[in-house]
Amino acid sequence: MAGLRHVLESEIASGKTIGLVPTMGALHEGHASLLKKARGEVDVVVASIYANPTQFNNQDDLAKYPKTESDDLLLLKREQTDVAFFPQTAGIYHGLSTMPINYGVLTETLEGAHRSGHFDGMSTIVRRLFELVAPHRAYFGEKDWQQLAIINRMSSSEDLGVKIIGCEILREPSGLALSSRNIHLSSQEKKAALTISKSVFDIKHRLTRKSLHDTELEITHELKRAGLEPDYVKIVNANTLEALQSETNLGQARLLIAAYSGKTRLLDNGPV
Ligand code: PAF
Repeated sequence: MAGLRHVLESEIASGKTIGLVPTMGALHEGHASLLKKARGEVDVVVASIYANPTQFNNQDDLAKYPKTESDDLLLLKREQTDVAFFPQTAGIYHGLSTMPINYGVLTETLEGAHRSGHFDGMSTIVRRLFELVAPHRAYFGEKDWQQLAIINRMSSSEDLGVKIIGCEILREPSGLALSSRNIHLSSQEKKAALTISKSVFDIKHRLTRKSLHDTELEITHELKRAGLEPDYVKIVNANTLEALQSETNLGQARLLIAAYSGKTRLLDNGPV
């Protein structure tokens, strides 16, 4: 940790800008796109790799989280990352306990309702990484749309001095959103999972035919018919994640989906 500060302080002293790409490892092309964006915008690109235990509400999920450290290093090198930061729990959590975060609906709905404590752990570690790296900019994928919205709110309300950059979802040619968890999908589960991305692509068209509520129900039924187990299918305000009162607010709306394919929980979202 002291080594990291030492390296970054001399860079900052010489007027260089720092970009942080926080990850939990098991890097894929989605992460590579964040690193590329950072590489184009800042002088020093720092990537952190840390599967933060406090944001896993299920210890099995943490144990199963893929670990691909040597491949991760190759990808970081390929993307010309300047600093790879691998915190250890004893060091990064030294003197730190998980701080609850509460932005009302924004933190309570969707993932907040299904993964108790997840956003408390996530925001605690992101705040800590910001403190240690002191980046000018930090890069997060839009696939975790609610996470990105919470980090945006946290960064502005706590005046963290970090510009948050959201990066577009990267997809397989089939449409499936890239995720470190996709590695767990059998070919049949992967095929079923395409119902999720298809719903994201179709949403505008569906809403020309049906009400918000009926569209959510229709998608939920289709996911179930494909053998998936949806946690939620919701069309909400893209910034506040509040339920929409009527179809007249569709301009700022987003469809968010979480569903299990087999034992793997998948997220996807898109504009409405
Ligand atoms: O999105 C992730 O990979 C994690 O939630 C993050 C932002 C690295 C915090 O642990």
